[in-house]
Amino acid sequence: MRAAVLREIGSVAIEEIDRPVPKMGEVLVKLAATGICHTDKSMVSGGIPAAVPLVLGHEGAGVVEAVGPGVDSVGVGDHVVLSIVVSCGACYQCGLGNLSICEVGSLMSPGGLMLDGTTRLTKGDEELFSLLGQSSLAEYAVVSARSAVPIRKDIPMTVASLLACGAGTGYGAAVRRAPVSLGSSVVVVGCGGVGLAAIMGARVRGATTIVAVDPNPVARELAQKVGATHAFDPTKDRVLREVNTLTKRGADFGFDAVGTKGTVELAFQCVRPGGDVVAIGIEDATNEVEIDLYSLLMQKRVTGTFAGSLIPQIDIPAALELFVDGRLPLDALVSETYRLEDVPRLLDPEFTLPPGRAVVSFEGVA
Ligand SMILES: NC(=O)c1ccc[n+]([C@@H]2O[C@H](COP(=O)([O-])OP(=O)(O)OC[C@H]3O[C@@H](n4cnc5c(N)ncnc54)[C@H](O)[C@@H]3O)[C@@H](O)[C@H]2O)c1
Ligand SMILES: [Zn+2]
Ligand SMILES: [Zn+2]
Repeated sequence: MRAAVLREIGSVAIEEIDRPVPKMGEVLVKLAATGICHTDKSMVSGGIPAAVPLVLGHEGAGVVEAVGPGVDSVGVGDHVVLSIVVSCGACYQCGLGNLSICEVGSLMSPGGLMLDGTTRLTKGDEELFSLLGQSSLAEYAVVSARSAVPIRKDIPMTVASLLACGAGTGYGAAVRRAPVSLGSSVVVVGCGGVGLAAIMGARVRGATTIVAVDPNPVARELAQKVGATHAFDPTKDRVLREVNTLTKRGADFGFDAVGTKGTVELAFQCVRPGGDVVAIGIEDATNEVEIDLYSLLMQKRVTGTFAGSLIPQIDIPAALELFVDGRLPLDALVSETYRLEDVPRLLDPEFTLPPGRAVVSFEGVA
């Protein structure tokens, strides 16, 4: 099968590798669509460390081609979203319902391995690592059955794929992690695939003031299209002042969907005493956040989320029902569709992804 392989920082190539075979509790999926998340880009640029050789892609949706032994949650022909929440179902965190920080999944999958600590991907005798338990920039992927979420068959796969990572993360940050409350005010720093979904999630939860912050005018326009009530350019506008004027005392919730120097800090400054900030973005794994102690005494809270802290089997089908109902305009995120052959160009560190979400579509699958 063809797959986008990262062998060294900065360089991605489409290679022919072996089609993986599902083991116990796993599923083989034929990919129909895979979104390109900023995290793929950061792995190629070296900002987020990657075990190489690595098959990229972690925002996939497709059709179940085969199931391994012991799988009864999905069957051949089912449409599935491949969640980046890789959970064992048996550890302390899973017992608490914190599936996105499963003690096994959160150790194995960022390290390029499946839950059992091995890899399914090979090219002859060579073993390749998998990205976040899926490696969906390839024609087929083997994933843990717990990460393969069955969905309605009438949903476009390009839309469904976004919930695997980016849109699922932004939406979950707003509806699960924060969670945003009715009539509240919200600031979202960064309006890419993740931030735009946080805006949608905030709107679904009944926020009435939603401030989008992004230097890109097209991203700001998209933000207003999907639910932001105001949009500011952090390179020109005095965001903190604008937020204080709009909300009187600072916003109730702040989200950072960028993860560069100063962006969590901006979200933190924009919330009122007692307000909540959720860090989502991470441009570089070594980045640090600086916040003032007095604001903590004023009861501001800072947390973060992996994958929007979603419970995939519940939250992904529910988000798609909201999409069908017109309340979660996920389709507005799909900026352009591409082919697998385009991936080396899209992931070139010199290439800037278009606002919204670039999605790779696999011809003839669903
Ligand atoms: N926590 C998680 O589980 C998780 C999941 C997915 C993605 N991420 C991370 O979230 C971040 C966003 O991902 P994405 O796919 O939406 O990225 P993206 O590239 O689609 O969008 C990033 C947006 O941020 C904007 N931006 C850049 N600098 C800014 C600044 N200083 N202030 C405001 N906006 C700014 C850009 O113009 C762009 O619109 C990335 O760091 C990614 O790695 C985290
Ligand atoms: Zn991602
Ligand atoms: Zn677990």
